[in-house]
Amino acid sequence: MKVLAVNGSPRPKGNTSIMLGWAAEELSKAGVEVEIFQLGGRSVAGCKACGACWEKRDRRCVQDQDPVNEVIAKMIEADGLILGSPVYFSDLTPELKALIDRGGFVTLGNGRLMTRKVGAAVVVARRAGQVHTYDSINHFFGIMGMFTVGSIYWNLGVGREPGEVNQDGEAKETMITLGQNMAWLLNKIHRP
Ligand SMILES: Cc1cc2nc3c(=O)[nH]c(=O)nc-3n(C[C@H](O)[C@H](O)[C@H](O)COP(=O)(O)O)c2cc1C
Repeated sequence: MKVLAVNGSPRPKGNTSIMLGWAAEELSKAGVEVEIFQLGGRSVAGCKACGACWEKRDRRCVQDQDPVNEVIAKMIEADGLILGSPVYFSDLTPELKALIDRGGFVTLGNGRLMTRKVGAAVVVARRAGQVHTYDSINHFFGIMGMFTVGSIYWNLGVGREPGEVNQDGEAKETMITLGQNMAWLLNKIHRP
């Protein structure tokens, strides 16, 4: 079993990365392979609404100049997907939104390829906007027919400078339980 965790923050060692790491550690302990993909900070184009992915049906976006096709291939292969983002003006980063738009259209247009995979949103902010960002990401999992995973609290943390989320003990507990819950659900689905 494999989980792909996408970091939508442009800071590869920032707070989102730390939170993803906590969940990943628990998944690994439970025997689930985890790959963390650094998407934030890279040049990622938005969806052009050309509809080519629905016509060509080759599991790819026609815009091939950025990492999105690489991530789409990994999403299709994975059994679970964690989308992590810092809160930017009360919402997710543009890199992650571009992945949702393009990856969503490609996988829907090629036969709903994300259906019945397991998904979790992970968000962090200095002060506010986590729940709105969490909701934004969960809209993606919902329309894709995915099963979303929760924890002891919504999957969020508080912190501003890189590493500050380490002071948020509840965020760590939330991520640990999220990793355990995701592993539990994956095992129920794949090893019933
Ligand atoms: C452009 C921008 C917008 C931000 N907007 C918000 C916001 O709406 N609410 C908030 O609490 N923090 C906001 N922040 C702070 C980040 O969410 C916070 O620093 C977070 O820890 C960054 O996570 P990272 O280290 O993974 O990049 C913003 C930061 C930036 C750069």
